[in-house]
Amino acid sequence: MKIDVVSIFPGYFDALELSLLGKARERGIIDLQVHDLRESAHDKHRTVDDTPTGGGAGMVMKPEPWGVALDGILSAAPADADPLVIFPSPAGDVFTQSMARELATESHLVFGCGRYEGIDQRVFDEYAARGRVRLVSIGDYVLNGGEVATIAMIEAIGRLVPGVVGNPESLVEESHEEDGLLEYPSFTKPATWRDRAVPQVLLSGNHAAISTWRDEQRIERTRRVRPELLPPEHRGESRGRHAAE
Ligand code: ADE
Repeated sequence: MKIDVVSIFPGYFDALELSLLGKARERGIIDLQVHDLRESAHDKHRTVDDTPTGGGAGMVMKPEPWGVALDGILSAAPADADPLVIFPSPAGDVFTQSMARELATESHLVFGCGRYEGIDQRVFDEYAARGRVRLVSIGDYVLNGGEVATIAMIEAIGRLVPGVVGNPESLVEESHEEDGLLEYPSFTKPATWRDRAVPQVLLSGNHAAISTWRDEQRIERTRRVRPELLPPEHRGESRGRHAAE
């Protein structure tokens, strides 16, 4: 998968040289390139922002540097590549595991990280008229810019690209995967730590009992923390049980 990122703070993306994503880049499974938007601003001060037309607080990112940066990336892509341009924005569709799965099948993603009060609307309109564009939010809160949102999305998408996670089994039994339930609690050795014992069933060697216990834990945890995620067959049981929590 090819990923291009445009940002005025390329240093944010150093984190993607670490761990699994870093290894996937070394192995050529993910080709990630970060572009400094200021290099596409051709005035003396490499200006990327200006005051909002019509008035208002803050600054808006100027369209010209975005045009230069995105034209450069898109014109270098093969004719049949059909890249998807994603602008992280609190005004976008909410990013979910299911969107991550969908985006993991793309061959070329381009992330445009806005700062300040956002990017001039004509940039979205221009690239939506020429290809595929999506505004995507990572949640109902406001960050200072799209960089952290882009890192979160690249990590969630990248680990679903075949070959990035060594043992694909480990992707299945996770929160939000398979049946949409949250994952069960995990334990390792020692069997007792600060008088806290690992649940006895996990030491029993009885795989059927362990599997049943884990399923129950997933349902209870989901009911307690994220009841809206519970599939219909698990709704209604033990209603009100956690009302005091
Ligand atoms: N930029 C600022 N806040 C954001 C959010 N919640 N999601 C994506 N991009 C953002």
